[in-house]
Amino acid sequence: MVGKAHPTVLNFIFHNQRDIDYQMTVSKIREELNNLLPQLTAELAQISQLDQLSQLKVKYLGRKGPLSAILRKLGALSAEDRPMIGQLANIVKTQMEEKLAQAEISLAARHQDEKLAQETIDITLPGRVPEIGRIHPITKTIHEVCAIFQNLGFQIAEGPEIETDFYNFEALNIPAHHPARDMHDTFYLQNNLLLRTHTSPVQIRVMEKQAPPLRIIAPGKVYRRDADITHTPMFHQVEGLLVDKTVAFSDLKGTLTVFIQRMFGAGTALRFRPSYFPFTEPSAEVDIACVICSSRGCRVCKGSGWLEILGAGMVDPAVFRMVNYDPEEYTGFAFGMGIERIAMLKYGVDDIRLFFENDLRFLRQF
Ligand code: DAH
Repeated sequence: MVGKAHPTVLNFIFHNQRDIDYQMTVSKIREELNNLLPQLTAELAQISQLDQLSQLKVKYLGRKGPLSAILRKLGALSAEDRPMIGQLANIVKTQMEEKLAQAEISLAARHQDEKLAQETIDITLPGRVPEIGRIHPITKTIHEVCAIFQNLGFQIAEGPEIETDFYNFEALNIPAHHPARDMHDTFYLQNNLLLRTHTSPVQIRVMEKQAPPLRIIAPGKVYRRDADITHTPMFHQVEGLLVDKTVAFSDLKGTLTVFIQRMFGAGTALRFRPSYFPFTEPSAEVDIACVICSSRGCRVCKGSGWLEILGAGMVDPAVFRMVNYDPEEYTGFAFGMGIERIAMLKYGVDDIRLFFENDLRFLRQF
């Protein structure tokens, strides 16, 4: 029987070989499974970062990992081996999961310790005080001026900063040839508009809308083409207007005296000098005794002992006629003052530009 093997013998050999292969596969799977945990443990010992840990998690437990590969092979195993290998695989899987979870906890703790060691918080340091803004000295002065007049029964009125020639000049009886209307003094815009050069147009706007009696003050920004240590192209004024049936010049004097003494201190002397404004008749310029040198004479008052502080007068009948008030029935007084000038005198500031430079060292003083 040399040439051909007996079929039964062949069959036996064949069966035997398959058996051997099969057994090898099973023990290889078992070995692979048993190696997984030690391999993972060895790799975990090498890492120090949490992101490395999640890479290992994917490597060992992920869909492309060794455990998934083994589980895919389960179907090829015999009915007796399948549950046994399956069970082993589950045990190994649980062990690896536990190992990874432990490693995650200790890595996180280590990470936290390192961070704490690096952080140097000195809890004895004083806290940072938040920067709190404050009221600008010009705004503060406007508030003070308005408060004094509000106590005297005046109401606040406002008007636009962009004005027409009519309200800024014409209705105030300022003639066409008046130097204030010059291109050199006024910022003209298109379409007969301009930046108001004073707050006096608010007088007109209020009288147009309201019947007398009235008592208003109008604070706000005004603009002129002027710039030096006492002039900025934008500055602030407060306008005052009182209209009633028997208003006299003495009422103007009394009102302004109260204002000046409340603003600059009781006993501050003031004087009225005859002057001219197209919208008042008679007109006056009001001076206060120099608050810098107490009238002894200094650089600020140019040795005179007096400081010019505002313009005022009795409302010109021509203005009343512009707004259809009867000048035979009503009289009134008006005044206008520059806020920067008042703030400079009150706070001893010698350069008007300081107000608008936004230098905190300056602004913090108020
Ligand atoms: N409008 C004047 C100016 O800008 C100031 C002024 C003077 C206002 C006399 C008045 C006034 O109301 O009666 O220079």
